Amino acid sequence: MKDNQAVKSILQYFDTRNGKLLIGGRTCKQIADRIGTPFYAYDLGVAEKKFKMLKKALPTEVNIHYAIKANPHPEIISFFKNLGAGFDVASKGELEKVLKSGADPDTIGFAGPGKQKNEIKAACEAEIGSLNAESVTELERADKIAGNLNKKLNVSLRVNPAYELVGSGMRMGGGPKQFGIDQEKIPQVLAMFFQWKNLEFKGFHIFAGSQNLSAESISSSFKKAVEAVISFLPYCPKPPSMVNLGGGFGIPYYKNDEELDIQTVGRRLSSCLADSKSTLKHTRFVVETGRYLVGECGIYVSRIIDIKESRGETFAVIDGGMHHHLAASGNFGQVIKRNFPIILPDRLKEPPAQTINIVGPLCTPLDRLGTKVLLPEPKINDFVAVLGSGAYGYSASPLSFLSHQNVIEVVL
Ligand SMILES: Cc1ncc(COP(=O)(O)O)c(C=O)c1O
Repeated sequence: MKDNQAVKSILQYFDTRNGKLLIGGRTCKQIADRIGTPFYAYDLGVAEKKFKMLKKALPTEVNIHYAIKANPHPEIISFFKNLGAGFDVASKGELEKVLKSGADPDTIGFAGPGKQKNEIKAACEAEIGSLNAESVTELERADKIAGNLNKKLNVSLRVNPAYELVGSGMRMGGGPKQFGIDQEKIPQVLAMFFQWKNLEFKGFHIFAGSQNLSAESISSSFKKAVEAVISFLPYCPKPPSMVNLGGGFGIPYYKNDEELDIQTVGRRLSSCLADSKSTLKHTRFVVETGRYLVGECGIYVSRIIDIKESRGETFAVIDGGMHHHLAASGNFGQVIKRNFPIILPDRLKEPPAQTINIVGPLCTPLDRLGTKVLLPEPKINDFVAVLGSGAYGYSASPLSFLSHQNVIEVVL
């Protein structure tokens, strides 16, 4: 287990007692005695550490928006609201969740291709900080909707950048994409703004990719984003009051993953913003991130219900699986299937003794959360914990597949 960098990196944020992992001060057994298994447990102490680390690293003029697509649990939304975060939402449903938390609508950005009329209407009625428009059609539609409501809708242009966020798990920029308006077309779209009397121009939103562990790549993409914004200035109907630089901050998932050096990202961004201060005098900057804030705080815990040998390999069958945690099964956009960080949370002091396949109850070989994981010798009833499960876990999984029991979420 020692040689797994991701396990080591994530466990540094948690406490342990007598070789047992504590989640929000409780052992897995204490949690399971109350709610059974399997469960997702979110340790808000860990989320707070991550938020504060990011806040401290970033220049003071940069606000943090929590991308609730990573984890839309209402308690987590309220938690980040209370810490002073803004929000990135991607649907009317997400917008409603954030508004329900009592968040200031002015701190909400709404991005996503294919926004429906009722979604634009809801954004306009709520008077959100920025609808990040993904096409000219959307801008025309938004102008009409705002006009009908007799309101002005705050909009930014979402830019499909001409560059890539190198080394990202998921790339949202560079090349042809469904996201945003191509960088080279932005000047001509800005020139159309005079027609849209019901739209208030706010600025730009540039999200180049996600799950990146390289401070160098992220810093250089931020620099390119700022340069792109400066190149748009002559065409803007007025100076941009807001620029959302995106994020892409990754967390360690796989054996050799090292934690992102967020201090370097912050330092490089500070110097980039200092250089552009004379040009972008009155601009407020935003970064938006989900995974970095909540990924590590969440743990998916199941129990071993059977242990089988098959042709020289050991299989531990758990009472959960891919239907609860698609990402850990490697089927949520991963190109290469690799194990999430997996531990036996009550046996942290024991040395690894065996390689084990961790599988669930579904009738598909895809239902495998771990392949040849090095663990202490497993026993029936042992807890198995998948670390790094706080983002794109519960809400990104096919929960009703095969009609198994649902999984409980608990915030601690
Ligand atoms: C526009 C936008 N913002 C924010 C995010 C959040 O990314 P992450 O959770 O990796 O920080 C995504 C992820 O797909 C996104 O598409």
